[in-house]
Amino acid sequence: MKGIVLAGGAGSRLYPITQVYSKQLAMIYDKPLIYFPLSLLMLGGIKEALIISNTETIPLYQKLFGNGNHLGMNIEYKVQAAPNGIAESFVLGDEFIGNESVALVLGDNIFYGKLDFLYNAVKNHNENGGIIFAYQVTDPERYGIVEFDNSGNAISIEEKPKNPKSDYAVPGLYIYDNSVVEISKNLKPSARGELEITDVNKVYLEQKNLRVEKIGRGVAWLDTGTPKSLLQAANFFGVIEERQGLKVACIEEIAFAKNFINRVEFENLIDAMPKSDYKDYLVRVLKHS
Ligand code: G1P
Repeated sequence: MKGIVLAGGAGSRLYPITQVYSKQLAMIYDKPLIYFPLSLLMLGGIKEALIISNTETIPLYQKLFGNGNHLGMNIEYKVQAAPNGIAESFVLGDEFIGNESVALVLGDNIFYGKLDFLYNAVKNHNENGGIIFAYQVTDPERYGIVEFDNSGNAISIEEKPKNPKSDYAVPGLYIYDNSVVEISKNLKPSARGELEITDVNKVYLEQKNLRVEKIGRGVAWLDTGTPKSLLQAANFFGVIEERQGLKVACIEEIAFAKNFINRVEFENLIDAMPKSDYKDYLVRVLKHS
């Protein structure tokens, strides 16, 4: 299983912050936003990840994560020349994916709560087909929307419908078998000029090869698309981290906890960090391990 983080998009709703700055590098309390989707892949056991972004931003991610070896990972990078849609990830990631299945997470999606079902879906996906999720929202016209029949089977998926058939949005975590590469290569751009992930899901749905898991209450899927929602997300994690003294989406801690790196490698990684609360936290993690 390979992992892709798509960290593209113009981030226009965050203008002027995104004039010179990639949205996925925005600060969520004490860490960059992209740590959240990356940690989701790591907790799903993924060690090989591809980060896709635009030409200007790739060097910043390279500075942030390097080749990923310090995390016990192999992180590669790929330029998406223009915002041609989420499904283009699988076309750009063709070589990286090889013959394997793949989990794609959107670089601005944050999940929080009891997420074992997400990690397990990533970890255990060796079947045919795709797995996506459905999360109840109050603003369904902004998302890919899935409709269910009375028995709970998904029967339709629409991208940003004007008249949504349900309030179940599809969040930005998609898990597919290898055929997603061919499916994506054969897509036609939508009216907004993008290769739509919703069109990929429609193909799997038509083939009766799509599992849609509803996410129940108690799990947060946070939006980070506007200044207000970004601030809310930062406050949310500030409150939780301060209260418990535990960090969320701390990629170094996760790498150690998942045995991607051993104790010595973890120590070296901490030593290399500048004096900061973040470093002090990891020193405590090491001490208590
Ligand atoms: C994209 C997808 C949409 C999905 C959403 C999740 O929307 O097209 O289906 O529900 O991500 O964040 P966009 O980011 O293009 O608005």
